[in-house]
Amino acid sequence: PGPASGCPVGGGAVGGGPEPALFSWEFASDPYPAYAWLREHAPVHRTRLPSGVEAWLVTRYPDARQALADQRLSKNPAHHAEPGKTGIPGERSAGLMTHLLNIDPPDHTRLRRLVAKAFTPRRVAAFAPRVRELTDRLIDGFAERGSADLIHEFAFPLPIYAICDMLGVPAEDQDDFRDWAGMMIRHGGGPRGGVARSVKKIRGYLAELIHRKREELRRDDGGGDDLISGLIRASDHGDHLTEAEAVAMCFVLLFAGFETTVNLIGNGAHALLRHPEQRARLQSSLAAGETGLLETGIEELLRYDGPVELATWRYATADLVIGGQPIPAGDPVLVVLAAADRDPERFAAPDVLDLGRQDNQHLGYGHGIHYCLGAPLARLEGRTALERLLTRLPDLRLGADPDELRWRGGLIMRGLRTLPVEFTPSA
Ligand code: HEM
Repeated sequence: PGPASGCPVGGGAVGGGPEPALFSWEFASDPYPAYAWLREHAPVHRTRLPSGVEAWLVTRYPDARQALADQRLSKNPAHHAEPGKTGIPGERSAGLMTHLLNIDPPDHTRLRRLVAKAFTPRRVAAFAPRVRELTDRLIDGFAERGSADLIHEFAFPLPIYAICDMLGVPAEDQDDFRDWAGMMIRHGGGPRGGVARSVKKIRGYLAELIHRKREELRRDDGGGDDLISGLIRASDHGDHLTEAEAVAMCFVLLFAGFETTVNLIGNGAHALLRHPEQRARLQSSLAAGETGLLETGIEELLRYDGPVELATWRYATADLVIGGQPIPAGDPVLVVLAAADRDPERFAAPDVLDLGRQDNQHLGYGHGIHYCLGAPLARLEGRTALERLLTRLPDLRLGADPDELRWRGGLIMRGLRTLPVEFTPSA
């Protein structure tokens, strides 16, 4: 739509007029037309968020990429002109603020180097059989029924069990984690008290677990092969990690790696079910024992309808200019990954899902020093989940009218509340 047709984000109001109705219910189901309009008419746009905080939305690919790498845009909420209004509810009071997504160099460099020593591609690759086992166990839970809700029965539990296993959370405690994490997801934008309580419970649990593992490592000189033990070992042999930093690190691994992966699987399965020709293409390639299309396909699903709609908060530490728009120091900047990844100036036919897309340097995992640390794990989980689903339930189909599917209206993440599916029951 051109300017004459009015602003689909509400009221024709860009730059000064009444607030655009971004973040409405319709917007949550399909934000892409509004993003296309913003990219074209107001690529760096100041808006009021549902929380009341005002922030700049950056929607064009080159501006987004540049902003993600611009270190004058700090991740530290103390740089917000009104600190305390952003972040995960309860995070501040639980003392979890010093994690990777909230800090800048040199602290960020030190902590990221430390965790990179423990979170290695080798450790992730060694985890592949376990992810496959978890995936198959979850499918076993509903395969004979002929129907399921792919979010609650599949996409939701897989990443939480996977990251718990990787961190070294004992099996008997993992269901508690599942409940706390569920509380955080379900009420992401809702009753803040419940989320704050879950955040505190997770914090308390992690502090105790880290303490226990540190003691175990001291006693038997070697210790476990889990990520927390790896982190403690790395910190004891180099840069030091305080107890508070260790807890915040585990917390960020949990929450950065959880809802994102739920939505990669959920949004990915949804996109495949809505594009039968692409799904058939993927199924025949899998049946022929090829993995190439699965690999490019996961990247394309991330670009096309990725889990992280907006990158996490950034704050201008100086007056600066993005895409020709002056931004005053202290203002928050939100980079809209979902808009940048559909920029027609960067991607040919950006609204078309093409699992074989080659030129696909999407921003779904971010860019620059905060580039997703868990990308190898996310890819492993995403590939395994979709490969096992399509292989074991070959006639998987949507079990609801597509227009009736409900999307969560959270700010940062994009994902479905439920994804009902049907299929021929199998043993
Ligand atoms: C950072 C996306 C899965 C851990 C990020 C960022 C994005 C992202 C966009 C950068 C945020 C920013 O710059 O504001 C995703 C997506 C995932 C995923 C789309 C799934 C499909 C995971 C997993 C883990 C993880 C499984 C770990 C278990 C992290 C961490 C950071 C991060 C620790 C912060 C890195 C830093 O600040 O240096 N992720 N992520 N992510 N991600 Fe992921």
